[in-house]
Amino acid sequence: MKGVILAGGLGTRLFPLTKITNKHLLPVYDRPMIYYPIEALVRAGVTDIMVVTGGRKSGDFLSLLGNGEDFELKHLNYTYQKGEGGIAEALGLAEHWAAGDKICVILGDNIIQRNIVKMVRDFEAQEVGAKILLKEVPDPERFGVAEIDGDKVLSIVEKPKDPATNLAVIGIYMYDPRVFQVIKELEPSERGELEITDVNNWYIRDGSMTYEVLDGWWTDAGTFDSLLHASELVSQGGANLVDEPVAK
Ligand code: G1P
Repeated sequence: MKGVILAGGLGTRLFPLTKITNKHLLPVYDRPMIYYPIEALVRAGVTDIMVVTGGRKSGDFLSLLGNGEDFELKHLNYTYQKGEGGIAEALGLAEHWAAGDKICVILGDNIIQRNIVKMVRDFEAQEVGAKILLKEVPDPERFGVAEIDGDKVLSIVEKPKDPATNLAVIGIYMYDPRVFQVIKELEPSERGELEITDVNNWYIRDGSMTYEVLDGWWTDAGTFDSLLHASELVSQGGANLVDEPVAK
């Protein structure tokens, strides 16, 4: 499986911190934000990684990350998203590189406490479809919110005013190669973006969406409060903790 990290956008919710730099280059405790999703993938055994950058200072990703030496990688791949077309549009840019493989996508501002190797292996064994990870949160209206019935996901609503559950869809998604065709058929949402929630609802309608509930804490870091919270969580015990050795 290949990994895609989405690190574009203008980070408007963090103005003026993001007036002259990219959100994913801002510090979260002792490292730049982008380090956490890269480490999350590498520790789950996903080492063939593409970073989709964009917005301000996208060239700084190269200076910072180079070929991924800080993560014991030999090579990192990059591509560039023009403008603010949304998460699904950014993912679409990885199509030629994914070249028919399954992919694990992480939003560049999502940070997790524990390793996702089990979910990655489960999805490797899943013949077709997609997998999302869910987490109970106190403020579901900030996220995509899932309704489930047993092991089935019934629907996902993006930032509902009146959430049906408190299960947030976290920014880690796994897809089969059909995802790129799905993205091509999407219509922009009211905010003018191609929404990842619409991609996920396509897989739900297809009957091929699975989910797992994440262990340990999860946070995004795209608002002042969540950025501060992320630094606090990491400072209290680190992120991407590994329970078992990852088989190569
Ligand atoms: C995005 C997704 C949302 C998801 C969230 C996780 O929201 O649209 O479904 O729950 O990431 O961080 P954004 O933070 O880009 O508004």
